[in-house]
Amino acid sequence: MVSFIDLGDTVQIKSEPAFKIRKATLEDALAIYRVMQAAFYPLISRGYPKKAVDRTISKPWIIRDRILSASQVLIAEIGNDVVGTVTGFEEHESMRVSSFGVHPMYQCRGIGTELLETLESIAIKNGNHKLFLVTAWVMTEAIQLYQSLGYRKEGFLRSHYYGEDLIIFSKYLFREDDDNWSSSNPKHKIEHCSWRFWLF
Ligand SMILES: CC(C)(COP(=O)(O)OP(=O)(O)OC[C@H]1O[C@@H](n2cnc3c(N)ncnc32)[C@H](O)[C@@H]1OP(=O)(O)O)[C@@H](O)C(=O)NCCC(=O)NCCS
Repeated sequence: MVSFIDLGDTVQIKSEPAFKIRKATLEDALAIYRVMQAAFYPLISRGYPKKAVDRTISKPWIIRDRILSASQVLIAEIGNDVVGTVTGFEEHESMRVSSFGVHPMYQCRGIGTELLETLESIAIKNGNHKLFLVTAWVMTEAIQLYQSLGYRKEGFLRSHYYGEDLIIFSKYLFREDDDNWSSSNPKHKIEHCSWRFWLF
């Protein structure tokens, strides 16, 4: 990645190390755990309960299980260093986004965006209808990012996670799913008692 610094008459080109996104292997589990620690521990200073942070950071053996299962565990790496991660769980043709974090030293470079966009491409390729996730109010950068990528606030889980309110975000991957959610959709209308007329 290259950024430009305007120095009046001259423009200096400052190179930042490029990152690449790939699926995690078993050897990445410990590094993923460390990135999650680095990404989530600062949230404690914003008032997010330590218990909630500890529970959010999956232990390396859980990460290994996910890598071995059908879950989509992605990492961003710079050189040989894991600097970001996200996991997608496919359930009933929906993809739940989880364990999303970028090491604070590497935030604001587009790595989080690229991780989510890569997961979204996999979700589409695998025929999922939507992506969804839960987040907390203290995760302001994440909320901003989800909204900029087209996720919508769909609901709230109050006092749900160690006393914290959570927000549900979803992103619909096919137009018809986005249009057809409402109970006013004719597909969801109940034919009130019409079966009785067939009987009598
Ligand atoms: C959320 C997170 C993964 C984003 O990673 P990132 O690599 O910094 O994301 P990007 O560089 O792709 O940023 C994309 C957008 O996020 C938002 N964002 C990122 N950092 C921000 C900051 N410090 N302040 C405000 N918005 C921010 C912006 O909308 C930004 O878009 P912009 O660059 O056009 O302004 C990272 O902030 C993080 O690890 N946070 C702590 C853990 C967390 O909250 N995880 C989410 C769990 S649900």
